[in-house]
Amino acid sequence: MSALTSVNHITVIGSGTMGSQIGMVAALSGFETTIIDIAEDALQRAREQLESRMARDVEKGRRTQSEVDEAFTRLDFSTDRDAVVAGTDFVIEAAVEDLSIKRKLFAALDQIAPPHAILATNSSNIVSSRIADATSRPEKVCNMHFFNPVLVMKAVEVVAHPGTSQDTVAITAALAEAMGKQVIHVHKEIPGFVANRLLAALRKEALQLYSDGVVSFEDIDIAAKSALGHPMGPFELMDLVGIDVAYMIRLAEYEQTGDPESLPNPELKKLYDAGRFGRKSGQGWYTYASAT
Ligand code: CAA
Repeated sequence: MSALTSVNHITVIGSGTMGSQIGMVAALSGFETTIIDIAEDALQRAREQLESRMARDVEKGRRTQSEVDEAFTRLDFSTDRDAVVAGTDFVIEAAVEDLSIKRKLFAALDQIAPPHAILATNSSNIVSSRIADATSRPEKVCNMHFFNPVLVMKAVEVVAHPGTSQDTVAITAALAEAMGKQVIHVHKEIPGFVANRLLAALRKEALQLYSDGVVSFEDIDIAAKSALGHPMGPFELMDLVGIDVAYMIRLAEYEQTGDPESLPNPELKKLYDAGRFGRKSGQGWYTYASAT
């Protein structure tokens, strides 16, 4: 745990599905944490969703009220990125999966963050060597990849690029462990890393079977659950992760591989174009009573 002595305050950039829960887990684990977004209403929504998740956990006896209250005293929400980052020790970026946005963001973070601060990206698909050279501290840049829902899933993939220092890897892995996570060390940069590549193979086959008219998407989900024992089918999981995220991951991979096989399946594109982003928009493959 000594690797972690330099981390007191964590900044999470982005208050979406991933960023908000990463921030909550960090605060629950004892870290002073601030979640940053450009829009007040996005932060407000994130706060409300986290409050209702935590209330549910207390009601179910999974956490105590005082644990949750203390975590909320450590958790801030802010639109004032620069003021927060100027005093932080560790940044976890969970913004949109777009390389040019991430490069601009990391260049700006590098200007403001204290020299010792590590700049990690939660990106599952954009490897950190593509971002690190936008900063003056490439040795302090890496991927720290969480899984959805972050409050529940135990894994974090830590991925170094060739110029990431051993210290950065050690601190990032120790932080993930302090957040109650199990670390998967990925030794080579590869888009998607490990868990998502396993998932992508399944998702790709599922979309193909559906678009070929072999079977309904509902029955594919039933097969994954009742024949393979998965907790969710691939279509339910796309709705959980976000149709927009699943779509952008494909585009980001295509951008890196140039292989048309990487492009989003047309059925996925249809949902994306229709703004059916999954649970968070109330409709994706399935329809939900309310957006969550
Ligand atoms: N956020 C936080 N907690 C959640 C949640 C969410 N969105 N959904 C469920 N939970 C928790 C809650 O504690 C919930 O209990 P309550 O309903 O009493 O509050 C508990 O999990 C059980 O939920 P459910 O009864 O609704 O359903 P379940 O037993 O099927 O569990 C699940 C839900 C944990 C999500 C489970 O289905 C599962 O493990 N699914 C697979 C998830 C997965 O594969 N994740 C990886 C995605 S890939 C990724 O994340 C990579 C990326 O790059 C984006």
